[in-house]
Amino acid sequence: RTTLPYTPKVIAHTAQLRENAPFAFTFPDASSPCAVVKMGTPVPGGVGPERDIVAFSVLCTHMGCPVSYDSATREFRCPCHFSTFDAEKSGQMISGQATEKLPAIVLDYNASDGTVRAISVDGLIYGRQSNLL
Ligand code: FES
Repeated sequence: RTTLPYTPKVIAHTAQLRENAPFAFTFPDASSPCAVVKMGTPVPGGVGPERDIVAFSVLCTHMGCPVSYDSATREFRCPCHFSTFDAEKSGQMISGQATEKLPAIVLDYNASDGTVRAISVDGLIYGRQSNLL
């Protein structure tokens, strides 16, 4: 099967990101909602000056409900059947009915202008046979 390349997309400027608060974007297309979070401490897959910026698809891997970020626990939480995913550990599942981690959006950081780009997806976005439609 042919793997098409992703089209990189600027999703945020580091000046826009507040620590421990989600910032919404879509990637790789308008029907795939995602969130980027600056965690405040270095985390696996984190980019930026502090290696703390990570992003995920916000479609729950169980049945596709939109998860939301909980700043108190630093988890993404699903309102439908209560799955939880660890934002500081690459989106891995903590509890609930989901059996897959949240797809992580692979990012890169441009130190010269402070922009963060989405460049690919690690994991399959809910409901898709391929991340690129
Ligand atoms: Fe998220 Fe079921 S859709 S736990």
